[in-house]
Amino acid sequence: MDKVTVRDIVRMKGSSRIVMVTAYDYPTAKIVDSAGVDMILVGDSLAMVVLGYPTTHGVTLRDMIRHTMAVARAKPRALVVGDMPFGSYETSNSRAVRSAIAFVRAGAEAVKLEGGSEYADRVKAIVRAGIPVMGHIGLTPQRHLRYGGYRPRGRRLEEVRQLLLDAEALQEAGAFSIVIEFTAAEVAELITRRLQIPTICIGSGPHCDGQVLVLHDILGLSDHIPPFAKKYVDLKQVIAQAVSSYVREVREGLFPGPEHTVVRLKEPLDLESLLKELEGGAPAKQC
Ligand code: KIV
Repeated sequence: MDKVTVRDIVRMKGSSRIVMVTAYDYPTAKIVDSAGVDMILVGDSLAMVVLGYPTTHGVTLRDMIRHTMAVARAKPRALVVGDMPFGSYETSNSRAVRSAIAFVRAGAEAVKLEGGSEYADRVKAIVRAGIPVMGHIGLTPQRHLRYGGYRPRGRRLEEVRQLLLDAEALQEAGAFSIVIEFTAAEVAELITRRLQIPTICIGSGPHCDGQVLVLHDILGLSDHIPPFAKKYVDLKQVIAQAVSSYVREVREGLFPGPEHTVVRLKEPLDLESLLKELEGGAPAKQC
């Protein structure tokens, strides 16, 4: 199958549902790609689910670039989207463009940034540099300090109006799609109908052009799985079971068994006489 491009993603609006998932390293990028996702987001959720920070603020551009490179080395068919971390685009358009270029050099084929109309000029500048941008509105975790936590957005008229204006401003600025996070399903549906570009939702109901989830939530590896995410497997349990079997087998002398003891001597050796030689006896001989 051909490599997914930004044009393919835009064309999918209204014809087939778009699937995006996060991945942060080479093996998981290979696995999610083979499962058939359309886009892989190297999300700044990396901060919490992989690096153990309490919020996304802990992750740096350098961290994101390193993980984007690992994902890109998997050469996925899916479009690779790099998530611009806190501090990499807020201060100026030129800073934003420089950060986006670093992502492209690392192998990203698009970048995502959080924020609405107030960041439309950043989106425009990055797109002008030839780099596709995905917007992100609704709950924007990088702004949790400003909004007093991780509350849903767009439940009152004024906020809904603002979300619509934000979505339109991002589209106008040249974004090729927009993530809508933790908003009422009716509001996400309304935005989806108003826009020509695809909406990719998380925690915002089923009426969007696509969905995104954090891989570690799907796999049951996250410490806190949000109520809108679906755990498809309890990998924590699977991994703990596998590793405790290993611990037990080593302690009981069951591992490694004969099938895992694979190095064979190249010639018959009298290892006992070698021991004696080392202890000061006559030189050891081959058998
Ligand atoms: O970083 C991330 O994983 C995200 C998704 C939740 C959209 O931004």
